[in-house]
Amino acid sequence: MPGRLRDAVYALRKARLGLERRRLDYGQETDERAERLASMLPASVDELRAYEREYDNLEWFHDTYADRVAEIHDAGVATDTTHWRDGATLYVVCRALEVETVVETGVLFGSFDAHILAAMERNGGGTLHSVDLHGGPPGRFDYGHLIPDRCREHWELREGDARAMLPDLLEAVGPVDLFLHDSDHRLPHMRFEYETALPHVSSGGVLASHDVRLSRLFDRFSDENGLSSCVVCDTGIARVPSSGRTD
Ligand SMILES: C[S@@+](CC[C@H](N)C(=O)[O-])C[C@H]1O[C@@H](n2cnc3c(N)ncnc32)[C@H](O)[C@@H]1O
Repeated sequence: MPGRLRDAVYALRKARLGLERRRLDYGQETDERAERLASMLPASVDELRAYEREYDNLEWFHDTYADRVAEIHDAGVATDTTHWRDGATLYVVCRALEVETVVETGVLFGSFDAHILAAMERNGGGTLHSVDLHGGPPGRFDYGHLIPDRCREHWELREGDARAMLPDLLEAVGPVDLFLHDSDHRLPHMRFEYETALPHVSSGGVLASHDVRLSRLFDRFSDENGLSSCVVCDTGIARVPSSGRTD
């Protein structure tokens, strides 16, 4: 498909999703987060709810995060810097899986990075490898501005196109407990990232994606590859079957 047509299809999908969101109840989906995740993660509803409470009570995280969101908004650079419901979902997943190695595409101001890194800080270790294009985000801030200093030691940022960087990066860091897509949401690129990442996701690990409601791609990809999956708000979570364990 020529580039311009692909962009037009993407714009149409985004507009349709904007309308669809009016009938989606993200508050209810958040309330059901623990049940939805418990159907596929090695954790009970009670354990997952405990991680949600733990997240709510992370004062050191929320204080810094709120200050930095305000800085970005006050600078007039962006108004939509955070999807906190999706960030909390990623926090809970990273705590439940006790992730050690995570690869993520699409950093911008680092809302999801901050949540993943906060979970790693509580887990007591791990590395988040992130990829975003050369040049940094708009305005005077760096990639990952929202990440609190306290958990930056777990973060490795690489600049470049995910299409060029991902294969070598995934090969170099070994099996990943979580892969997260949040870069270019046009379908060929999403498919490229899912297909490139899946062979590197560890047994029992998770392939996650933001903006899965733009199309049926995430659900189809999960079905085709035998992954159990769920969607909470705008984040899709698909789990690779766990070999040799009964969870
Ligand atoms: C939706 S934003 C990411 C938001 C971020 N995950 C967060 O938590 O706030 C998308 C990002 O993907 C990056 N991006 C777009 N195409 C890319 C590509 N081909 N490779 C790597 N990054 C890409 C953009 O530069 C942008 O920073």
